[in-house]
Amino acid sequence: MTERIFIGVAWPYANGSLHLGQIAGAYLPADIFARYHRILGNDVLMVSGSDQHGTPITTRAEREHRTPQEVVHQFHSEFLDNWPRLGITFDCYTTTGTENHIQTVQDFFLRLHQQGDIYTSTMTLLYCPTDKRFLLDRYVEGICPHCGDPNARGDQCDTCGRPLDALELKEPRCKFCGNRPEPRESEHFFLRLSAFTDHLRAWIEPHGDRWRKNVYNFTLGVLNEGLQDRAITRDLDWGVPIPISGYETKRIYVWFDAFIGYLSASKEWAQKSGNPERWREYWEGNAAKSYYFIGKDNIFFHTLMWPAVLMGYGGLNLPYDVPANQYLTMSGNKASTSRNWAVWLPDALSRYDPDAIRYALAANMPETSDADFNWAEFLRRNNDELVATWGNLVNRVLTFTVRNFDGRVPDPGTLDAGSRALLDRAAVVLGEVGADLGACHFRAGITKAMGLAQEANRYLDERAPWKALKDDRGAAAQSLFTAIGVIATLKTAFAPYLPFTSERLHGYLGLAGSVTEAGWTRIDPIPGTPLQPPQPLFPKLDPGIVEEEAARMGR
Ligand code: MF3
Ligand code: ZN
Repeated sequence: MTERIFIGVAWPYANGSLHLGQIAGAYLPADIFARYHRILGNDVLMVSGSDQHGTPITTRAEREHRTPQEVVHQFHSEFLDNWPRLGITFDCYTTTGTENHIQTVQDFFLRLHQQGDIYTSTMTLLYCPTDKRFLLDRYVEGICPHCGDPNARGDQCDTCGRPLDALELKEPRCKFCGNRPEPRESEHFFLRLSAFTDHLRAWIEPHGDRWRKNVYNFTLGVLNEGLQDRAITRDLDWGVPIPISGYETKRIYVWFDAFIGYLSASKEWAQKSGNPERWREYWEGNAAKSYYFIGKDNIFFHTLMWPAVLMGYGGLNLPYDVPANQYLTMSGNKASTSRNWAVWLPDALSRYDPDAIRYALAANMPETSDADFNWAEFLRRNNDELVATWGNLVNRVLTFTVRNFDGRVPDPGTLDAGSRALLDRAAVVLGEVGADLGACHFRAGITKAMGLAQEANRYLDERAPWKALKDDRGAAAQSLFTAIGVIATLKTAFAPYLPFTSERLHGYLGLAGSVTEAGWTRIDPIPGTPLQPPQPLFPKLDPGIVEEEAARMGR
């Protein structure tokens, strides 16, 4: 039965290049998942867009004496260029600046306001007398009231992950001048999040088996501490306008507008597909499963706040799963833009194959705990696993067969037990990798696929068709046929992870159509099928890159 899968991926702030930590955290797992479901024949809608509001944007604009729109334009263009180069296949990648998005957000705002789920109240905010302005949450730093981290930001603490109100910070300081801000009153709109507590609990509790443990426990923990109503407007002039008169100097807060982008992007996709109502298939009547791929710093917004807003609005599907990832550290340290401690995606794409980047990140994905990226590991994964194991298997089998069997899949005669067992094993592994992918266990899936490539290499070493060829051509034909069968099935198992090379390999194997069209099924080669002489799937990297790349970081 065809399933409908909606995939929402965290909206990156358009305030700087993407780095590999973000890719491993959200975009790559989402894309692997989308590709798997497309190969299965399911209907997939994968959307995201550039988050163009919020202090990350305005801070950079102020520092560089540019308008926020100029900053957004620069990085949105860069993201649009990067996605296809890394093979990230969005059905719609837009921004939070479109007219459609603004209308969708205002529609949510008005409906929730009419129902009383959004109300006005005066709010005490921190005002900096030195800079003469209200300080947005992120412009205040101080000590986290929960865990004592001395550098918590006014919107949340990155150390313990809890959402914060700037007023809760102990010993607050203004991010611009370092002085202590003082509280002042201002009128704002609030989301009555507290009113959703029981409804949220009833919805979340049955998810204990499906959701990742850290996601489930974190969510329940926040719920048990008691949900606070949250201000969803701010004193600023960059953001979605409040659709009620009298509030022209204020804007809707980025954390109320951004997640509504999942819906507005779906509407934009439907509009462009020629059937403007089609988004409903993915949002209404629970006919689709919605997955949200995000980093762990966004869990609260996706398991509590967005569901509450959806419940308040009514009639739209709630998240089915939120497989949040942990952090990918860089050579042992947390990625940091200000210290240039990150591997920037445009740099990585300019020097390495996209499948090599995807492989290194997928094989080491921070799914259940933080993981570390370092260049020695990248080199090892590329040279020992991609090149020496998978690439070498493909290359030696296809090159040798093309040369000695007239460029065609050899006729194996009757398969012996060992060969049949290996072909069956390939089909079993394909099923296991599929089960891992469906359960969002990406790291386990790719590890199993690479394990099968190793098994196939061992089989070939034992059978040594290059030696058998002279005395027993039939035996050589049999082992090559078997290896080609394993390769053809493995190509499918690897395809969600390594889409570029799997597609090339599909062609070398003389198979028709695309990998996706072939479906998630074992492929038994047909004797006589013409093969193409292969090019190596992956280039071997020089060990010198480890030092070169290390020298680029932190400068
Ligand atoms: N821009 C936010 C961040 O990078 C993420 C927004 S995810 C959203 O942390 F979907 F909720 F918008
Ligand atoms: Zn904390």
